[in-house]
Amino acid sequence: MSANRPAAVVVLAAGEGTRMKSKTPKVLHQVCGRSLVGHVVSAASELDPEQLVVVVGHAREQVEGHLAASYDGVRTVYQSVQHGTGHAVRIAIEELGSAPDGTVVVVCGDTPLLSGETLRTLAETHAGDGNAVTVLTAEVPDSTGYGRIVRDGASGAVTAIVEHKDATDAQRAIREINSGVFAFDGRLLADALGKVRRDNSQGEEYLTDVLGILREAGHRVGACVSGDHREILGINNRVQLAEATRLLNERLLERAMLAGVTVVDPASVLIDVTVTFEPDAVVHPGTQLLGATHLGEGAEVGPNSRLKDTSVGAGARVDNTVADGAEVGESASVGPYAYLRPGTRLGVKAKAGTYVEMKNATIGEGTKVPHLSYVGDATIGEYTNIGAASVFVNYDGEAKHHTTVGSHCKTGSDNMFVAPVTVGDGAYTAAGSVITKDVPAGSLAVARGQQRNIEGWVARKRPGSAAAQAAQAARPAPGRAGNES
Ligand code: UD1
Ligand code: CA
Repeated sequence: MSANRPAAVVVLAAGEGTRMKSKTPKVLHQVCGRSLVGHVVSAASELDPEQLVVVVGHAREQVEGHLAASYDGVRTVYQSVQHGTGHAVRIAIEELGSAPDGTVVVVCGDTPLLSGETLRTLAETHAGDGNAVTVLTAEVPDSTGYGRIVRDGASGAVTAIVEHKDATDAQRAIREINSGVFAFDGRLLADALGKVRRDNSQGEEYLTDVLGILREAGHRVGACVSGDHREILGINNRVQLAEATRLLNERLLERAMLAGVTVVDPASVLIDVTVTFEPDAVVHPGTQLLGATHLGEGAEVGPNSRLKDTSVGAGARVDNTVADGAEVGESASVGPYAYLRPGTRLGVKAKAGTYVEMKNATIGEGTKVPHLSYVGDATIGEYTNIGAASVFVNYDGEAKHHTTVGSHCKTGSDNMFVAPVTVGDGAYTAAGSVITKDVPAGSLAVARGQQRNIEGWVARKRPGSAAAQAAQAARPAPGRAGNES
């Protein structure tokens, strides 16, 4: 491996990507939770190159900012005008100072499915065959738009790459294409780039011309044919973006299933590259697992759930739920129809039930919030039950306040806990209470109007109405009470 350690990997990402028709630079569009350029940089990092250089141009600040925030050890080079792939590599090499002594791998920033393994195979073939340049190629069903690999009829050796726009009809019929990925001898590359001209249909310096130049100078030119042409899919428009998402998603789910995760209907599940699982997790249809989401052993999620940066403990059940930045404890139960917002921490066997929203709330072991409630900015102890339709009133119009409820409490239905307020351990509250004052441990708090019944009000105020008639019928007949046969 270290014998094949490249001197540099150069990632080309200066183009605008006009066919995306987007304000976002092409290489920052996402596939399975990672930018296009992020995928390429991740694969390139697996080669452990001495230098990893990304050529940026269009929307330079945005792309540089993204790389600096998420990828350590990546160097960027600015190509102010895009004069072609050869020009981009030339600038990158000039930036490195001297011509690199060793292998230089070049990849495009818009091929998110390219794996580190394929790059390794390319580097190994390049070193093993003693080539000056090795191009990664593939046979594709439709080669429109790609550079064609021209081979010598007799020997089968690669003689040139001809761009689609510059190709003859006979060359256009070739199905073997240039993936845009190469391994070069660094010194020979630097030398050859100085000889690349712009006399083609696009007036650009083509990196692909380096092959012909090196071959004519008597150097070995080789090819490494990729087994799976889908891996080199370059993203130019949003149809290809969706296709790449579908393919990578399939690959990720397959890996999860082979590692012991049940995915009931893979076609309806979307996951990010950063999602992790333990064996026997189950994913039901219509589910999206995003960001740093983790499913513990035997955890069951879905159907119809979207979890982002959420960890689900072993044996927990999450049904028809949206969660972001939440922690669901072991054997806890969430939903159906729950919304867990950032900072929600459900303890072991805790419950956030139907139509329950939580935010910045720590719910202790065995505590249940079963129905129709909002719990925001709260700490609730263990084995407490919160009555249906309760609201933790955390906002006074200016600031948010905290509510604390102890352990083994039973709060009544339709309670408002007006924060800041504390309910002590073992306390009860009456249904319909508006709790504005602290409740001492073990007491019953009643905070609601007294009930008053005004007898005969309907007969007097709504005479002749259906209600009055029903009330009349419900009254015992005068004088006959008790002497029915
Ligand atoms: C290129 C190849 C083609 C290959 C195809 C594979 C050349 C001349 N053509 O064509 O043989 O089949 O990729 O997808 O190399 N870029 C820069 N600076 C530039 C020009 C391009 O950084 O001045 C970057 C782009 O952002 C992109 C990559 O290089 O990431 C490829 O450029 P693009 O214009 O997409 O080349 P293709 O026409 O697709
Ligand atoms: Ca392209």
